[in-house]
This record gives sequence, C-alpha cells and structure tokens, in this order.
Amino acid sequence: MRHLFVLTVVSALLVGCSDKPTGPTEPMVDLVAGKALANDNCAACHGLDGRGTAPGIPHLAAQSSGYLLDSLRAYKEGHRFHAALQDMTAHMSDDDLRNVVGFYAGLPPLETQPDAITAADVPVPYKRGEESAYVCATCHGPNGNSEIAGIPSLAGQQPLYFVSAVQAYLHGNRTMGAMEATLRGLKKSDIENMALYYASQVPAERAAPDIGDPVAGEPLSGQCGGCHGSHGVSHDSITPTLAGQDAEYLISATKAYRDKTRHHDVMLADSSDADIADIAAFYSVQKSRPAEDGASSAKQLIDNCDRCHGPGVMNENVAIPKISGQDREYLARALRAYRDDRRVSSMMHKMTLPYSDTLIDTAATEYASRPAE
Ligand code: HEC
Ligand code: HEC
Ligand code: HEC
Ligand code: HEC
Repeated sequence: MRHLFVLTVVSALLVGCSDKPTGPTEPMVDLVAGKALANDNCAACHGLDGRGTAPGIPHLAAQSSGYLLDSLRAYKEGHRFHAALQDMTAHMSDDDLRNVVGFYAGLPPLETQPDAITAADVPVPYKRGEESAYVCATCHGPNGNSEIAGIPSLAGQQPLYFVSAVQAYLHGNRTMGAMEATLRGLKKSDIENMALYYASQVPAERAAPDIGDPVAGEPLSGQCGGCHGSHGVSHDSITPTLAGQDAEYLISATKAYRDKTRHHDVMLADSSDADIADIAAFYSVQKSRPAEDGASSAKQLIDNCDRCHGPGVMNENVAIPKISGQDREYLARALRAYRDDRRVSSMMHKMTLPYSDTLIDTAATEYASRPAE
C-alpha cells in the first residue's frame, strides 16, 4: 500500500510538473538590489540572516532558489495566501523577486537555536495514546484485549476505523451506553493517539466460543473476506479487522447492521442468526496481527518524506524545499494546509492525506530539530 502510494506520487512528479527551478538561462541576479529589498520589506519578519523572527514564520536562509521563486510567484498570483506577501509581491517586478530570492537563497544555513526543541522532547503519539487508554482498560482489557464477552477488543484494530467508531458514538450514530463518561472528555488528538496505540497492540488468540461453529463459518465467511481481508485481518484502514474479535460482539454488531440499528452504506448483512453465529465463531478464533508498527510508524513516515526532503536529495524537474532546520510551527501549519487543501500541491496533498495531526507534529518536530542544510 505504502509503495503504491509513493509510486503514485513519483509518477505525478514525472508527469505533472511545469514549474522548473531557475536554470542557467535565467537573467543575472543583482544581490545588492536583493539585499536592499530584503532590508526594506522582509527583514522585520524573515531577518537579514534569513531566520524567521517569530514562531510560524519560515526561515529562508539557504532555501532552494527555485522553490523560493515559485512560492513568491504563487503569492503574487493568488495561489498561496498571506495578506502581507500578496500585497508586497503585487508591487514587485519579476526581477525584484529574483533578486530578493537570490539574496536569501545565497545566505549560509542557520545554526540551530540553543533552546530548539528536539525530537526526543516530544513523546511519540503512540506513547501518549497509551497514557490516555488507561481509562478504557476496565472494559476493553489489558492492551485492548477484551476478556469480557460482548465487549470488543481494540488491540490491533485499524486506526481510521477506530477513529470513525469513536466519532460514531460521539455524534450519536452508535449508542455508547456505559462508555459515555469516558468518551465525552476526549480531545481529537487523544482519539488519534489512542488509535495508533491500539492499532499497535498484539491481539491475543481466542479459544473457540460457546456459540456458533467455526468450521461451518469458514465457507460462509467468503462473502465477507473481500472487504474484511483473508481470515478477517483487514488491510484497509477504515474496514475493521474481525479476526480474534469477541464472538458475542461480532454477532451483535453484524445483526445490528442487518436489522438497521447500525447504519453503513457499504457494510450490509442479510444472513440468518445461525449463519451469523457460525461466521462470528470462525472469525473469533482466527489469528490477528497489529495494524500499525507502533513507535516505528513515525519512522516509516519520515523515511517516506526523506525520499524528497532528505539530506542532499535533488530533483531536476521540481523545486523541492529544504525543510531540515525549518521553524517547527511553520512546518506543522504548512503540512495541515496541504492536507486540508488550503495550500495547493497535489503531490503534498497526497503525501499528507493519510496523516493525523499527531503524526504531522511528529514530522514537523523531527525536521525542525535536524541541522539546516
Ligand atoms: C509581516 C511578516 C512578513 C513579511 C514582511 C514578509 N513575510 Fe514572507 N512570510 C511570512 C509568513 C508568516 C509566511 C508563511 C505564510 C504561509 O504560511 O504561506 C511567509 C512565507 C514566505 C515565503 C514562503 C516560504 C516557504 O518556505 O514556503 C517566502 C518565499 C517569503 N515569505 C518571502 C518573503 C520576502 C521575499 C519578503 C519581503 C519581500 C517577505 N517574505 C516578507 C511573513 C512575512
Ligand atoms: C464501561 C465499559 C467501557 C469503557 C470504560 C469503555 N468502553 Fe468502549 N465499548 C464498550 C462496549 C460495551 C462497546 C460495544 C458497544 C457497541 O455495541 O457499539 C464498546 C465499543 C467501543 C468501540 C467500538 C469498537 C468496534 O470494534 O467497533 C471503540 C472504538 C471503543 N469502545 C473505544 C473506547 C475507548 C477509547 C475507551 C476509553 C476512552 C472506552 N471504549 C471505554 C465498553 C466500554
Ligand atoms: C463491501 C465491503 C464489506 C463486506 C462485503 C462486509 N463488510 Fe463488514 N464492514 C465493512 C465496513 C466498511 C465496516 C465498518 C462500518 C462502520 O464504520 O460502521 C464493516 C463493519 C463490520 C463489523 C463491525 C466490526 C466492529 O468492530 O464493530 C462487523 C462485525 C462486520 N462488518 C461483519 C461482516 C460480516 C460477518 C460480513 C459477511 C457476512 C461482512 N461484514 C461483509 C465492509 C464490509
Ligand atoms: C515526491 C516528493 C515529496 C515527498 C515524498 C514529500 N514531499 Fe514535501 N514537498 C515536495 C514538494 C515538491 C514541495 C513544494 C510544494 C509546493 O510548491 O507547495 C513540498 C513541500 C513541503 C513542505 C512545505 C515547505 C515550505 O517551506 O513551505 C513541507 C513542510 C513538506 N513538504 C513536508 C513533507 C513531509 C513531512 C513529507 C512526508 C510525509 C513530505 N513532505 C514528502 C515534495 C515531496
């Protein structure tokens, strides 16, 4: 899945690119004029050394000149939004833009601030999720392995499904009953952190339940496997894993869809009670596995980003910004803007779409704490 997604991005890179970095055929840059422009118009926010003067303002020192020029043109043409920059660039000629860009791009990379936050200062989302999940264990069991009939296990569950299930309770689309008190107080980031935590837990194996017949259930489960995965281990982040789930819960949940007390346009069921019990028995004894790799999911994310933003990566077709040593708040805000389509880059939108706010903060912290290049 991840490979496919990277391939899509790379082919978008090869096909869809028209903005080229400044090449040798571009006119000469006047660095003296560039410095004067920077001094008069930019230094209050970006410094004369290219360091953003407050959190949320990007550093410009040593940034790729092609990328800086693309950005300024994007503000000027209204593709990127920032009031001050839109006003200012409106009055600047293309030569002015090239000159001021030449000045900032030619500055040496910034030294890291002595008080800069380091990646080690920020707990990984998975760890924070573990702390929040403490209150759920009375019902959902140790590490999300439920030991109470009728209560679902959460261990190994797909993270987006987890988030959408919690939202279904909070929005009144599922009845939360005894969970009400614990779910109401959760912040969005708590839910996302817990989703990653539970997704990374190892699901326990279950003995055959008292109800239903796993052997009779296997052939019947053929109608479910296309979505829920072979033997009930889902590979799709919004489709729940059924393997290793409590059988009584599986029965009540499947009947709830069938009897239309729980609604979903994709998940339909019309089986008899006896068939549902057999299918549930079959899934409950299947071996499941974690949907996420816990602490290493953040590392995989960064590995993905390093393909383009890693040390020394260059691309002839696209101006890729340097993000190592960049301001942390600015990075996090830029990533959310791509994800939520407030800043247009189809490539970065695809890259950030699957990521929660907590993973975005992790990536922002990681890059902000690296030395600038
Ligand atoms: C009032 C403060 C302010 C001033 C003055 C200002 N900027 Fe900015 N600049 C910002 C902020 C804030 C952003 C981030 C905006 C966003 O999120 O798109 C930014 C973004 C940029 C970017 C995009 C950087 C990136 O990494 O994508 C460039 C390039 C830039 N500014 C250049 C300039 C230049 C050149 C000048 C002077 C001509 C200037 N700015 C003046 C505040 C300012
Ligand atoms: C008092 C017992 C109790 C507590 C405490 C509790 N839950 Fe639940 N939870 C349940 C029951 C019972 C269900 C099944 C409800 C249903 O049929 O929809 C459930 C279902 C869920 C589901 C849906 C699982 C699925 O496979 O669809 C999620 C997600 C969930 N709980 C998350 C949490 C979280 C997160 C916490 C802690 C913040 C929590 N629960 C605390 C009893 C509890
Ligand atoms: C077309 C795809 C599809 C098929 C076929 C399908 N499901 Fe589902 N199923 C889903 C999706 C998507 C969800 C999540 C729905 C939601 O968010 O409420 C789901 C949810 C469930 C749940 C709730 C799990 C939980 O943790 O709460 C159960 C149980 C379930 N399906 C059982 C079955 C069974 C049994 C079959 C075969 C008879 C089946 N499904 C066939 C897509 C499918
Ligand atoms: C296939 C190459 C590619 C990959 C992979 C990639 N990026 Fe980007 N990134 C780009 C390009 C090109 C831009 C410039 C887009 C634009 O013009 O807005 C960009 C822009 C950015 C920016 C805005 C920088 C600024 O100064 O405003 C951030 C932050 C960023 N990427 C972070 C990431 C993170 C985090 C990941 C991993 C989840 C990632 N990128 C993966 C190519 C990539």
